[in-house]
Amino acid sequence: MEKNIRHQFQQYFGKEALIAAAAPGRVNLIGEHTDYNEGFVLPGAVDKKICVAIAKNEEQKINMYASQYQNKFSFGTNELHPVKGWATYLLGMIYFLQKHNSDIGGIDILIDGDVPVGAGMSSSAAICSAFGFGLNELFHWNNSRMELALTGQKTEHEFASVKCGIMDQFASLHGKKGHVMKLDCRSLDYSYIPFDFPDYKIVLVNTLVSHSLAGSEYNTRRQQCEEGIATLQKYFPNIFSLRDVTSEQLESHKTSLSEVVYRRCHFIIHENMRLLQGCELLGKGNIHAFGKLMYASHDGLSREYEVSCEESDFLVENARSFAGVVGSRQMGGGFGGCTINIIKNDQVENFNRHIRSVYEREFDKTPEIYITQIEEGAHLIL
Ligand code: GLA
Repeated sequence: MEKNIRHQFQQYFGKEALIAAAAPGRVNLIGEHTDYNEGFVLPGAVDKKICVAIAKNEEQKINMYASQYQNKFSFGTNELHPVKGWATYLLGMIYFLQKHNSDIGGIDILIDGDVPVGAGMSSSAAICSAFGFGLNELFHWNNSRMELALTGQKTEHEFASVKCGIMDQFASLHGKKGHVMKLDCRSLDYSYIPFDFPDYKIVLVNTLVSHSLAGSEYNTRRQQCEEGIATLQKYFPNIFSLRDVTSEQLESHKTSLSEVVYRRCHFIIHENMRLLQGCELLGKGNIHAFGKLMYASHDGLSREYEVSCEESDFLVENARSFAGVVGSRQMGGGFGGCTINIIKNDQVENFNRHIRSVYEREFDKTPEIYITQIEEGAHLIL
């Protein structure tokens, strides 16, 4: 796809693209819903990506075509407002990037990709990142990768009504082959940690339950965390987000919080602790202990944060009892999408066969399985 994006552009628009760029989806090993609580996350960019090709036009039009969906839109350059579907991400990126840089006039855009939509692998962040990266190069704006990530996040907030954190856009733009990234979502400092386990594979199992973050419970979770903070701040004026709250502080004021808000806060505080511990374990090469933290993360996501679903719980339970799987949990925003599993190489095939057959029997559909490599983040396609 990367190889033929320019060719596709030429075929569709009948002229040469001026620039082409790609940006990947991501996995997240541990640290879910911690980003908008100013905690830590541990994502890596993957070998599924969105590609875009762009050229200027003289018509003051933004013409876009997504070959994946065989679906096209055309907007005037003064029509930069939220719309339904994938086009909104392109319009949002143009709107915010123009505001901070310069006007771009009319452009033609072709987009293609293989990041599954609604699978918790950040297809929308990959669209924003690939497109933003391409525009930045085409118009010589010199925005940093982090600025582009923040613009992607703003687009998600304002053009898709999802009050997401920064993990997905960050990962798509900063990915490094063979490495995961420990990102401090408050300071935006990050470090690369080698994911150097040649005997293991990262395997994603897609429930095919498509999660829609917009209008879903995602924004509610964020509000519940904010509610928790507002209450705890009365007792501890020096805390600004759940990242600052210790487990002792939470317990000492448990009765001041509603039962639901307490559970949400409990999950976030412990998930952040699991992440910090997990990074140490990865550093020591202890993948087995890391895997146990993944299971604990899933239990919290399912019971405390309540962002799992029957299908994800089923997949994780089946992984738990399968020899060769060291860890498994639901990944991403939740309510479906993929589980992430770390599996011994020689068991991957058996696991895939097993999980397909039990899932089919239970839910009458075949899950998609992706054996994932950790790859580079956004880049130009020459
Ligand atoms: C979605 C959001 C991210 C993050 C995850 C959950 O992917 O876009 O910012 O909150 O959910 O960890």
